[in-house]
Amino acid sequence: MKVTILQGSARKKGNTARVIGWVEEELLSQGHEVENIYLNSQSLNGCMGCAKCKEKPDTIGCIQKDDVPEILGKIVSSQLVIFASPLYFWGVSAQIKAVIDRTYSLYTNYHQPDHASLVQGQRQALLVTGAGPFEDNAEGVFTAFGRMQNPHRAVNAGELYIGSCTTPDKLNDSVQKQAVEFARKIVG
Ligand SMILES: Cc1cc2nc3c(=O)[nH]c(=O)nc-3n(C[C@H](O)[C@H](O)[C@H](O)COP(=O)(O)O)c2cc1C
Repeated sequence: MKVTILQGSARKKGNTARVIGWVEEELLSQGHEVENIYLNSQSLNGCMGCAKCKEKPDTIGCIQKDDVPEILGKIVSSQLVIFASPLYFWGVSAQIKAVIDRTYSLYTNYHQPDHASLVQGQRQALLVTGAGPFEDNAEGVFTAFGRMQNPHRAVNAGELYIGSCTTPDKLNDSVQKQAVEFARKIVG
């Protein structure tokens, strides 16, 4: 299976990178083709809401000239996309949010009978690390993610929240086990 990981933390050796690293290792050991994109080194503008992309239903169609159209191309050609992010102010990081908003260009005619999506049937998963607990903290990010599969016509393959994070060296075997189980689940 072709897998794209969107690594949304700027910290290359931070908590999110550590946990997604365990997920990636497991996927590779299962023989999957994995590309891990470190978003912070990419040029990522926010969506302009111009809707030019809606004029071309069968293509990505975004008119912006940054690195996102290429990333969207990789997303479209993947069977599984893993969004990995630190929890920032009860949401995803700005890097991941920029890519998510630009996926506006991947579908047309939402809520209409001819609704079409370039990622129809794709498996999508979310991994988030945060300092606090899940309750009264992380629910919103998973709610928003779960809604994204509607316009995308995609499949929510799995969600993992690792809370109480301090430093990556404190992420123990139990977290690694959760990461490996998550990797096994999201491939279906
Ligand atoms: C700008 C900012 C906002 C944050 N907001 C939250 C938050 O709302 N809830 C939470 O539990 N942790 C929050 N944190 C803590 C991070 O989510 C946590 O340390 C995370 O594991 C960092 O991941 P990283 O090491 O991959 O960057 C925040 C950290 C920063 C820098």
